[in-house]
Amino acid sequence: MSQYDAIVLGAGAAGLFCAATAGQRGKRILLLDHADRPGKKILISGGGRCNFTNLHTAPDRYLSQNPHFAKSALSRYTPADFLALVESYGIAWHEKTLGQLFCDESAKQIVAMLLDECARGSVDLQCGEAIRAVDHADGLYRVSYGDHTAQAPALVIATGGPSIPKMGASGFAYDLARQFGLKVVQPRPALVPLTLPAGDALFRDLSGVSTEVIVRCGKAAFREAALFTHRGLSGPAILQISSYWQRGDTITTQFLPGREEGWLKTLKRERPKTGLRKVLSESLPDRLAEALCERLGLTGDLGNLPDKALAAAEAKLARWPFVPDGSEGFAKAEVTAGGIDTSGLSSKTMEARKAPGLYAIGEAVDVTGWLGGYNFQWAWASARAAGLAL
Ligand code: FDA
Repeated sequence: MSQYDAIVLGAGAAGLFCAATAGQRGKRILLLDHADRPGKKILISGGGRCNFTNLHTAPDRYLSQNPHFAKSALSRYTPADFLALVESYGIAWHEKTLGQLFCDESAKQIVAMLLDECARGSVDLQCGEAIRAVDHADGLYRVSYGDHTAQAPALVIATGGPSIPKMGASGFAYDLARQFGLKVVQPRPALVPLTLPAGDALFRDLSGVSTEVIVRCGKAAFREAALFTHRGLSGPAILQISSYWQRGDTITTQFLPGREEGWLKTLKRERPKTGLRKVLSESLPDRLAEALCERLGLTGDLGNLPDKALAAAEAKLARWPFVPDGSEGFAKAEVTAGGIDTSGLSSKTMEARKAPGLYAIGEAVDVTGWLGGYNFQWAWASARAAGLAL
């Protein structure tokens, strides 16, 4: 039986960073993953360039049943802190848009950096063995994996959520949390493409068309690109709003954001001999302009259309309703919303209140960030909080 100070389950973003932090404090750490190599989601993230943080990180950009939970960890390990680490490894980076920081070259550099940090902390990393059992007796957590058993007074759950199961993602974190008396907030796919019912077939014909919109659902609103797909809607704006969407909700889409009220009436005066289709296709992809025009049912020159009809068209373009019938599910979800209930965890250390020595970090916890580097920043910050407490 091998003895450690802590066993970290899951060598993804959070597990690697937590193990490195604790290891560099002199703790003997075992880091286990059932996948053949660590950090697989980091490698595919950000189109292979890893959007590793976001400069605009703030607690209100995270969803959780307790919106205050993430505050402490996020304030104690900031995007600037992670950026300093990235720069200390000479990894070149750039800001793409909206505060999103990416590697210039490859996500492989982030994994290599984390592995180097683990090596500096003499972390014992073991990949490719299934975890067979976890139990707790006499103040020690005992983990059986492959043919081995290890024990430690502390155990960190860092096995993420079930999004992208074909990469080895699983609901293991939730089973383990429940085993030790923690509650789990119903997990659901987030940052995920949404599907439209057959009645919206006109829009399905637009597969591949993308345009900037403002999408709204409840109080949430995002101004980014939306993409029509053969199943429904995707693109950054839709992925963002999907985290707030619940079955039955309407998503209102504002096409041509930024137009002043009455813009169609103004155009009618300025260019009475122009048709609506032409006007729309000057600012929108042609196929979309045609589809919207068809749905609005306005033909002929603007000059021949009543002001009332133009006002109605303008209002519809500003609040176009889509009622998705579902999402593309965990198979396509970038993250999982919900997860281990934060009410059972300390926001300072991520330790379970009722199970001393048990910690949960990263995506496994009910804290879900916006698209754009926020989820990795939560992984780093929560991992750091636990890594300093182990
Ligand atoms: P993560 O999923 O990274 O790690 C969990 C680890 O646990 C994995 O190594 C897994 O193999 C292991 N594991 C699971 N079950 C196990 C079991 N039963 N036994 C042993 N090990 C087990 N975020 C962001 O901020 N910027 C970005 O650019 C992107 N891009 C992106 C692209 C794509 C395609 C996806 C799917 C996701 C993103 N994300 C992202 C989200 C980001 O990848 C995610 O939030 C973090 O990886 C979460 O880190 P964790 O360490 O919590 O889980």
